[in-house]
Amino acid sequence: MNTTPARMAFIMLLTSIVVFFTPVSAEERSVINTELSKPAVRGGIVFKNYCKLCHGEKADGMARAAKLYGVKNLTIGPAKSDYYFKIIRGGGPVVGKSEFMPPWQHELSEEQINDVVAYLQIVTSGAKRGEVVFKTNCILCHGIKADGKGRAAKLYDPPPANLTKSDKNDDYKTMIITYGGQTMGRSQIMPPWGDQLSAQEITDVVAYLRTVLDNK
Ligand code: HEC
Ligand code: HEC
Repeated sequence: MNTTPARMAFIMLLTSIVVFFTPVSAEERSVINTELSKPAVRGGIVFKNYCKLCHGEKADGMARAAKLYGVKNLTIGPAKSDYYFKIIRGGGPVVGKSEFMPPWQHELSEEQINDVVAYLQIVTSGAKRGEVVFKTNCILCHGIKADGKGRAAKLYDPPPANLTKSDKNDDYKTMIITYGGQTMGRSQIMPPWGDQLSAQEITDVVAYLRTVLDNK
C-alpha cells in the first residue's frame, strides 16, 4: 500500500490519540518543564522581539528590513559567546562592524542578553537546530533520548528504530527521513518528511542524530 497523505495523516492521528490518553509521567513532565525554562527558549522570545526584524526569524539574514541597510549579509555566524556579548552590548562598531547593528546594553537586561546569546548558540549550530527539529517532530515515536522508546512506540511492529544504535550512514538517514520507510523497503510507519521539513532541517536533524550515537 502507498503512504498517501491521507494514510500518513491517519497514522499521525492514531499516534496522537494514543499519546493523548497515555498519562504524562512526573519524569516526562519535569523534562518538559526544564526544556521550557531554558535560557535559550526565553532568548528565542527576546530575539523575536528585538532582532528578527533585521536578522530574520532564524538569524539567517532573511528579513524584510535587511535590504534597507547597505549590508549584504545579516546572517549571524557561529562564534564564541564573548564575541556575541561584545557586539550585542556595544553595537557593531565595537567589533569593527556596521553601525546599523545597534548597542543593546541600555535596552535589554543582562538576563535578556544572556538568554539571547544562549539562543544564538543554538540557531547557529546545525546539530543544535536539528535537536529542536527532532524534539518537535520525532519523539512521539523515537523517544526524547532517540532510543526508540517514544510514547507511541508500543503501537508499532517493527518498533521505531533505536537511533542511538543506528548502523546507517548520513546519506541513508537523509533518504529515509525525506522519503519515508516504505520507499526504502522498511516500515511505512516511518513517515516521509520531505514535504514538511526543509532540506536544511533534514540536514540539521541528521547532524543531531550523529551526536546521539552511543559509539560516537
Ligand atoms: C536595525 C537592524 C538590526 C537589529 C534590530 C539587530 N541587528 Fe544585529 N546586526 C545588524 C547589522 C547591520 C550587523 C552587522 C553586519 C556586518 O557588519 O557584517 C549585525 C551584526 C550582528 C551580529 C554579528 C554577526 C556576525 O556573524 O558577525 C550579532 C551577533 C548580532 N547582530 C546580534 C543581534 C541581536 C542579538 C539583536 C537583537 C537583540 C540584533 N542583532 C538586532 C543589524 C541589526
Ligand atoms: C509515527 C512514528 C514515527 C515518527 C513520528 C518518526 N519515525 Fe522514524 N521510524 C519509525 C519506525 C517504525 C522506524 C523503523 C522502520 C523499520 O524498521 O522498518 C523508523 C526508522 C527511522 C530511521 C532509520 C534508522 C535506522 O538505523 O535504520 C531514521 C533515521 C528515522 N526513523 C528518523 C526519524 C526522524 C528524524 C523523525 C522525525 C523527523 C522520525 N523518524 C519520525 C517511526 C517513526
